[in-house]
Amino acid sequence: MANISLKGRDFLKLLDFTPAEIAYLIDLAADLKAKKKAGIPHASCAGKNIALIFEKTSTRTRCSFEVAARDLGAGVTYLDPSGSQIGRKESIADTARVLGSMFDGIEYRGFGQEIVETLAKYAPVPVWNGLTDEFHPTQILADFLTIREHFGTLKGKKLVYYGDARFNMGNSLMVGCAKMGLDFVACSPAAYKPAADLVSTCEKIAAETGATIAFETDPIKAARGADAIYTDVWVSMGEPVEVWEERVNALSPYQVNRAVMDASKEGAIFLHCLPAYHDLNTAIGREMGQRFGREAMEVTDEVFESPASLVFQEAENRMHTIKAVMAATL
Ligand code: CP
Ligand code: NVA
Repeated sequence: MANISLKGRDFLKLLDFTPAEIAYLIDLAADLKAKKKAGIPHASCAGKNIALIFEKTSTRTRCSFEVAARDLGAGVTYLDPSGSQIGRKESIADTARVLGSMFDGIEYRGFGQEIVETLAKYAPVPVWNGLTDEFHPTQILADFLTIREHFGTLKGKKLVYYGDARFNMGNSLMVGCAKMGLDFVACSPAAYKPAADLVSTCEKIAAETGATIAFETDPIKAARGADAIYTDVWVSMGEPVEVWEERVNALSPYQVNRAVMDASKEGAIFLHCLPAYHDLNTAIGREMGQRFGREAMEVTDEVFESPASLVFQEAENRMHTIKAVMAATL
């Protein structure tokens, strides 16, 4: 931990970081979590200010940045999807230079990865990716802290991702597993695999770290030997409502249910970045449940509420890992 410094670095995607740097951030998060639990102050960013740009909605990521910043002693300004000039009246490059002159760090959640990359190019301060269509790197830090807390290690663990593996979560988990030496399997219809160039990049990384990258269309075969079963919503933020029908048809066989958990390794855990459609207690869950005659989408309520499900520990770890990213880069 001692030889690594990430001061001044952006946090845009895990591909930009070495395995040692990612391990450093997870170690730092564990340390900051322990301090928080013990009531030990850790205001290492006192006097700094951060800006949070959210062009999509959020519960976990926004609250994690806000609480973590306050714990670190930093001030926070939140810019909601409609409350700024970004994109409509002012370009990302101009926004970057304006906010970069006032703030010490900028978080961005929104659409294309190129937007956060442009923001980082023009802002003279660290920029953190709070989710784009392509990547959700702070989520992976929380997922890996959770896996490490539970199993004591990351290397050699088998993680199977069920669902649409072409979007931010499938992509980021594949990259994270490749970097940290896990065995990654994307379990989906063949058309829902991550892009070929990203797969080939991850295969090259995996060859160096001892990770493996695989694809499987059979949900039960994929689960065999799995330590962690992971899924995400079938329709992501920013996608048109019309895609629901196609997704439900294509991904229903890939729902995480008791059969999948039973096929996985004894003691396997269930993870989900959340929010999840595991019952009908949400407006969209209810609407889509009625439309498609289903009680749940990507995961059954039984699995979600089971002892194997670590989703709320994982959600809490968003805060500790985001705090680590800010503490390390500011
Ligand atoms: N997992 C996650 O990013 O949650 P939010 O959309 O609530 O931030
Ligand atoms: N794939 C989901 C992740 C939410 C944390 C989305 O982009 O909406």
